[in-house]
Amino acid sequence: MKTVVELLTDELKKAFAECGYDEQYAKVTVSNRPDLCEYQCNGAMAAAKAYKKAPFMIADDVAAKLAGSEVFEKVESVKPGFINLSLGGEFLKNYLADMAKDDKYGYSNAGKEKTVIVDYGGANAAKPLHVGHLRSAVIGESIKRIQRFAGNKVIGDVHLGDWGLQMGLIIEELRDRKPELVYFDENYKGEYPKEAPFTISELEEIYPAASAKSKEDPAFMERAHLATAKLQNGDPACTAIWNHIMAVSKADLKKNYDNLDVTFDLWKGESDAQPYIPDMIQKMIDDGIAHESQGAIVVDIQEETDTKELPPCIVRKSDGAALYATSDLATLVEREKLYSPDAYIYLADKRQELHFTQVFRTAKKAGIVPQDADMTFLGFGTMNGKDGKPFKTRSGGVMRLQYLIEDIDKAVYEKSSENRSMSEEEAKNTAKIVGLAALKYGDLSNQASKDYVFDIDRFTSFEGNTGPYILYTVVRIKSIFNKYAENGGRPEECSIDTAKNASEKKLMLSLVKFNEVFESAYKDNAPHKLCQFIYEVADAFGGFYHDTMILAETDEKKKQGYIALLGLTRNVLECCLDLLGIRTPERM
Ligand code: ARG
Repeated sequence: MKTVVELLTDELKKAFAECGYDEQYAKVTVSNRPDLCEYQCNGAMAAAKAYKKAPFMIADDVAAKLAGSEVFEKVESVKPGFINLSLGGEFLKNYLADMAKDDKYGYSNAGKEKTVIVDYGGANAAKPLHVGHLRSAVIGESIKRIQRFAGNKVIGDVHLGDWGLQMGLIIEELRDRKPELVYFDENYKGEYPKEAPFTISELEEIYPAASAKSKEDPAFMERAHLATAKLQNGDPACTAIWNHIMAVSKADLKKNYDNLDVTFDLWKGESDAQPYIPDMIQKMIDDGIAHESQGAIVVDIQEETDTKELPPCIVRKSDGAALYATSDLATLVEREKLYSPDAYIYLADKRQELHFTQVFRTAKKAGIVPQDADMTFLGFGTMNGKDGKPFKTRSGGVMRLQYLIEDIDKAVYEKSSENRSMSEEEAKNTAKIVGLAALKYGDLSNQASKDYVFDIDRFTSFEGNTGPYILYTVVRIKSIFNKYAENGGRPEECSIDTAKNASEKKLMLSLVKFNEVFESAYKDNAPHKLCQFIYEVADAFGGFYHDTMILAETDEKKKQGYIALLGLTRNVLECCLDLLGIRTPERM
């Protein structure tokens, strides 16, 4: 469906042309003065110069042409030359009725289906998930859903950090703790056990212990480096331990991501890219793209238009080791081979910007991806505590994601404990859904690139622009619906009517913006734009609900119009929440 702005612009184009003015001046926008009008056209101001006429004369001409139009309830020309527009009741009603029939509520994808890889999550195997990974998971999940809704084929990949020094550290720590294990017997020739020699809780404790030890004990660090190198060279014992680490860690990560309602199509990682590295680097050298510098192999990425100096991308260290960039480049080799995507979107902390500039430029230069490949890095800001510093636990450590979620569920549970009419079990489950909404909405309602303050009290509040407030709105609508049905009404037979009062019209005006807002959220990879929209709709619903007797309305046709409007409001809100990765409970 065309957006309302497009339809109105079409109307204005006709009028401008009929008055003898060029159509290019007919552009309509949503009003920035909603107290004066709903939409506006400022084209007469620019046209005035071209036609050497006073702008208000042009605005007057056009407004007079539009006088009889069904589309508008009111067309006003105001000095010095604005055209103020208010939508006609029938037009609005028909537009909403069409939206209600459409499974995408009026959004239609103009472009052709693209294959898009979204690289997000980015957890590091064997290390606990912390709040730093939360943003990647939450924003990435939403981006993935938005891309899918837009009609693209989307592949979400968690891209685990599973090939670094942490593996060597764990192997050596395990050797110190359990030297009797067969993995450490040099003469062992048999098969390695299928069962992992540790549980997830042990693993969670082993890594931090090993990491701390390595900082104090250079000999231990040296061993960890050696073990990492052995693993990377295919040593069977190290590989066997690595497989155990991966199995135990992945199972735990899956559980954590499940708790966040975040799902991936691919569970690949840096390790999957390793086989591609030797040929990739050799080709870069043969093609003259990469060269030697102080024993390392590097690719220059500086471009003429750069305003600052960018260091080259190191693809191999002087000791022969691969780096983070090498893994990302080799991952691109694999992704091109397996999926030949049309676009890539990466989510990571914005401090990784240089890394991604290096990787994208090198990949294009080396022909790993096409010259004009569509590659986006979405760098997100830091989640800070109320003190403005990166969020920490009370004891100053890095907050584990699991505890953060537990805290938020508890806060929601306690807030809703007054006048609770549901069973304990339902209350706990509801608190989980609402808590997660509080967390995700608190994050997504900010522009991703900005730092934001994690404030449990504010995020879990049932008032203001928060997840709980939005969910509460949806639940309220659901309950009106249920009551209507319980009293014998048939919501599915209701159809939208023309607005009866100002607050009903306001709700309608907010809803019709959906396709335009979605397009903009999609184009800019900006979930926060959906949040702004949701809040506007929820707020407009609040006004409507306050001003209108819905179920008590005695005029049956009017009542049916209300119910149909509420149905669409609920559907649009639930659709947007789903695009944010947020579920809604039945009751709250
Ligand atoms: N594992 C990385 C980290 O914890 C994030 C990975 C981001 N994705 C990528 N393809 N480099 O910082």
